[in-house]
Amino acid sequence: MTETLTHKKDIPVNIYRPNAPFVGKCISNEPLIRPGGIGKTQHIKIDISGSELRYLEGQSIGIIPPGEDKNGKPHKLRLYSIASTRHGDDGDDKTVSLSVRQLEYKHPETGETVYGVCSTFLCNLKPGDEVKITGPVGKEMLLPDDPNATIIMIATGTGIAPFRAFLWRMFKEQHEDYKFNGLAWLFFGVTNDASILYKADLEWLAYKHKKNFRLDLALSREQTTKDGKKMYVQNRMAEYADELWELMQKPNTHVYMCGLKGMEGGIEEFLTETAAKSGVNWSEYCKQMKKEERWHVETY
Ligand code: FAD
Ligand code: A2P
Repeated sequence: MTETLTHKKDIPVNIYRPNAPFVGKCISNEPLIRPGGIGKTQHIKIDISGSELRYLEGQSIGIIPPGEDKNGKPHKLRLYSIASTRHGDDGDDKTVSLSVRQLEYKHPETGETVYGVCSTFLCNLKPGDEVKITGPVGKEMLLPDDPNATIIMIATGTGIAPFRAFLWRMFKEQHEDYKFNGLAWLFFGVTNDASILYKADLEWLAYKHKKNFRLDLALSREQTTKDGKKMYVQNRMAEYADELWELMQKPNTHVYMCGLKGMEGGIEEFLTETAAKSGVNWSEYCKQMKKEERWHVETY
């Protein structure tokens, strides 16, 4: 084992269960996509004052949308990664924030546009609206306590949520017991520039904290690789393959992946090739990293 992870100690889980959720109130609901961007993704801040809810960076909460499903049963909860630090966006321990993309797709048979139940409910919340919350859940995506660790983050779309929480904890908040002085390196894939969630904040952090934070973007519909392929996050990483591989040999380097399930295959392929250059079998190495709690994946 490399170091003590927070989750060895005190991790809040399931403080609120589906049969007795906490009813919070929407404080604000702001667009994260700018004109020219694709789809609808919102930053939603919810008031949890008066609740027992506590959470850590990297955890998720459950949301129970109002109404019933097609069988007349109450809707089931959906999970959302928490985008704020444990102290909330206002620093007063009274809020939780989410980054929610409205699910929208064409029905495969009828061709009709279908909108997701819970994501639509959340994206349309107005200040004062009630929200049923469960959780928190999740022990996979917690930050190590070591303030000198190397934290490699790989995100697509709303997969940025837990990393926003990480980065705010590392660089925006002041703590007695956690003064981050390691390296945080974020690889973030979205469709185009106008769809980069939290763009101004991320770029400001990268400018302010050059020594400790690196930001590399992959804009799949605006950029291509040298051989003309879509620029996906794993293709951006491939440009730094040797450096990344060297970092991953260090016992205090943690890799986190969050967002589209579809990216897992591409990342695996990239790392299989990269490891092979050093004569290493990636699947063995990955197993070892998991054992050491240095490999963290949450995709959906
Ligand atoms: P629903 O109404 O439940 O519709 C979903 C269903 O629609 C699918 O089950 C499928 O049957 C169908 N469907 C979906 N796409 C298609 C398609 N292309 N063609 C045909 N059928 C399709 N989401 C976020 O926005 N932000 C987050 O931070 C986030 N974090 C998550 C963390 C975890 C751990 C997990 C498990 C999921 C997370 N999600 C997140 C996803 C979220 O939980 C919901 O799944 C998502 O919002 C869709 O829920 P919905 O109620 O809107 O859609
Ligand atoms: P694209 O949709 O152009 O194929 P968003 O949630 O804003 O749509 O961002 C998700 C990002 O992840 C998009 O840029 C999307 O590209 C990209 N993406 C889609 N499939 C994969 C994959 N298999 N591997 C890596 N990135 C992917």
